[in-house]
Amino acid sequence: MWASAVLLVLLGSFGANALDNGLARTPPMGWLAWERFRCNVNCTADPKNCVSEKLFMEMADRLVEDGYKDAGYEYVNIDDCWMAKQRDANNKLYADPERFPSGIKGLADYIHSKGLKLGIYTAYGNFTCQGYPASGMHLELDAQTFAEWGVDMLKMDGCKQMDRHTMKKGYPQMTKYLNATGRPILFSCSWPDYERGAGIPINYTLVAENCNIWRNYVDIQDSWQSVLSIIDYYAKEQDTLVPVAGPGNFNDPDMLIIGDFSLSVEQAKAQMAMWAILAAPLLMSNDLRTITPEYRDILLNKDVIAISQDNAGIMGKRVLQDGDVDIWTRHLEYWEEWGVVFFNNGTTATTVTIKLKDIGFSYILGYDCRDILNNVEFGHIEIEQLRDWHVPAGPGGVLMLYCFDSE
Ligand SMILES: *[C@@H]1O[C@H](CO)[C@@H](O)[C@H](O)[C@H]1NC(C)=O
Ligand SMILES: *[C@@H]1O[C@H](CO)[C@@H](O)[C@H](O)[C@H]1NC(C)=O
Ligand SMILES: *[C@@H]1O[C@H](CO)[C@@H](O)[C@H](O)[C@H]1NC(C)=O
Ligand SMILES: *[C@@H]1O[C@H](CO)[C@@H](O)[C@H](O)[C@H]1NC(C)=O
Repeated sequence: MWASAVLLVLLGSFGANALDNGLARTPPMGWLAWERFRCNVNCTADPKNCVSEKLFMEMADRLVEDGYKDAGYEYVNIDDCWMAKQRDANNKLYADPERFPSGIKGLADYIHSKGLKLGIYTAYGNFTCQGYPASGMHLELDAQTFAEWGVDMLKMDGCKQMDRHTMKKGYPQMTKYLNATGRPILFSCSWPDYERGAGIPINYTLVAENCNIWRNYVDIQDSWQSVLSIIDYYAKEQDTLVPVAGPGNFNDPDMLIIGDFSLSVEQAKAQMAMWAILAAPLLMSNDLRTITPEYRDILLNKDVIAISQDNAGIMGKRVLQDGDVDIWTRHLEYWEEWGVVFFNNGTTATTVTIKLKDIGFSYILGYDCRDILNNVEFGHIEIEQLRDWHVPAGPGGVLMLYCFDSE
């Protein structure tokens, strides 16, 4: 493999003006409560699953003890519904005292003691999506409060802000206030998704100057249809979205729902493979206390994670469609090193007969490729060689390859 610094400079980053807080040099990995636990706040009725410090502490324990932390998952992220219903006498946000008796500071200390990082949630506008107090009129104070508590990542949502034209101003203000705290806080912005929803043109240069990761499209739900609609969106918009991704800046197709109620094992592999190709944040929203080993193994697949976390931070794209199969490639750090996904939209197993040249591979001496979901070596392949690629049954069957130039 030939390292090429020149290529990295050309492809690896959107430009000199990307947000410079040293964070998200590769897509962030961790756990985020929302898709699985929602706004479940009744701890009397559901003590095990309600949004409380106990839930986040238990997930932190599982991240450490079950190998996720060693695999790279480090953020433990709170979503909506953590706050008390009003601000305190000094206008500061504080956590619901019954569900978070240690306060966010106490929770942050616990998370940090495990070698993990804490993420929190607010919204731009006066209320969160679920009607809790949010940061609209208090951006600076809230940035300071989050930093005092030891927060490491902030997701700022936007649904109760009716005038979405103001987001272009408001989110960058928050970026300045976060920076002014002196604490590096990874900033996750929902702003482009709301502009998209309102038909407002998105300025991704501005987004990348102010956010580490950003949502582009609707919330993921626990269904294959939802995963598919998100992948379709990124395929359609790839010419806009690929150039903005790079170290420090990533498009966010939303949480991993692997190990929840709806995805089959094959479909879970498909989500993991596609999120790695898309250089997407890997934020699991599942119950790590009850997840079964077959789903856990997918989340811990080291070869897939290595593609996700490749240092060049280049986002992959769809390069070929052959019958029911879409072929996606992601260029990796070294000169001719690639991740490849064959994604089957059809229901039956199928064979795609193509040359590596057809998907843009150009090194004349050829490549070595390996199936990283099943750990099968394919050995040396010439670029002009017509070859059969067997793709498992769908919808959502995937073959994922790691390939590099070899002689
Ligand atoms: C919580 O659930 C319990 C038991 O189902 C119910 O009696 C109580 O009214 C609920 N509390 C709230 C605030 O909804
Ligand atoms: C937030 O509250 C302030 C003060 O009451 C008000 O001026 C502003 O319009 C509100 N913003 C939104 C988005 O509702
Ligand atoms: C604040 O921004 C400056 C300039 O972009 C950067 O060098 C610094 O690391 C940032 N600090 C934090 C805490 O994000
Ligand atoms: C987008 O934002 C960049 C950076 O702030 C700015 O230079 C540029 O003029 C903006 N483009 C448009 C079309 O507003």
